[in-house]
Amino acid sequence: MARNKITIVGAGNVGATTAHIAATGRLGDIVLIDIVDGLAEGKALDIAEAAPVQLYDCNLVGTCDWEETRGSDIVIITSGLPRKPGMSRDDLLAKNTQIVKDVSERTAQYSPESIVIVVCNPLDAMVHAAAKVTGFAKNRVMGMAGALDSARFCCFLATELGVSVEQIKCVLMGGHGDDMVPLPRFTSVSGIPIAELLDEAKIAELLERTRKGGIEIVNLLGYSAYYAPAAGAAKMTEAILRDSKTVVSCCAYCGSEYGAGGYFVGVPAVLGSNGVERIIKLDLNDTEHAQFRESLDHVKGLAAKVDELL
Ligand code: NAI
Ligand code: 2OP
Repeated sequence: MARNKITIVGAGNVGATTAHIAATGRLGDIVLIDIVDGLAEGKALDIAEAAPVQLYDCNLVGTCDWEETRGSDIVIITSGLPRKPGMSRDDLLAKNTQIVKDVSERTAQYSPESIVIVVCNPLDAMVHAAAKVTGFAKNRVMGMAGALDSARFCCFLATELGVSVEQIKCVLMGGHGDDMVPLPRFTSVSGIPIAELLDEAKIAELLERTRKGGIEIVNLLGYSAYYAPAAGAAKMTEAILRDSKTVVSCCAYCGSEYGAGGYFVGVPAVLGSNGVERIIKLDLNDTEHAQFRESLDHVKGLAAKVDELL
């Protein structure tokens, strides 16, 4: 049986790490593409040379030539500027819109049947751009952010409670910004709501750390996170390629859902071979709904700026 073909656009920190995780997860053959001569080729070769140690059989191609990406099943767009200390994700909008426009046109040309996972920031606005430029059906374009942000919340909870990360499940909604909406009411440890295990003040502290999780890493490293983001992108890729119907918090197109009115925004969704197969509709309380609306308004504002630039 032919292996799935995964193209990862951008061979920087997130792209190359996603390639390595996808290879170790035996998700398919991988094409890593970048505009910098030798970068994708070098990273792909390095990952291929780890295969005899980690025992994965897949073709790994590093290239600057889009022809190599032809017929991909999944295209993961990580190409774009990352933020530096003092920058918000929104500061990247103008430059990254041009990059996403360019790679989305090529994605539509070379892999018209693919499913697209956008990673570059500002995330929700870049998903809007990719959907508009590719013209793909809305279920075939999505963004990775909730998988990362919810993983951060689960990580902080596991550390605080001294329990296995495996047992913590959480849902996170809204845009990928400081106004994201983690939902403690839908967070549990092996079925036990976290309100049974932690007091309100501690939960609020961990929520705030989650909202600021990206900048915490930027301030430590001087550049942005990539291990956890790459793990999130690989998890979504796996759910789609294995048709696992996994529920993932991700940036997906919402028509009437949550009253979004036709925007890509973070929601819990079922991922399978058709991409975003279903949005899970939660009965949000007034506070949660108000937080989601505020975050959605922010996303809408950025999408309008993207429309002006395209
Ligand atoms: P990076 O700078 O390490 O890598 C970006 C790569 O994209 C560079 O190698 C660059 O040459 C390449 N590139 C630029 N234009 C290109 C084009 N037209 N075609 C192909 N390649 C192109 O950056 P990093 O850390 O990998 O981050 C990538 C993006 O992902 C940033 O926008 C960052 O903000 C975002 N990000 C999003 C996360 C999320 O949760 N959604 C988490 C982490 C990063
Ligand atoms: C993050 O949350 C930079 O969006 C990226 O780490």
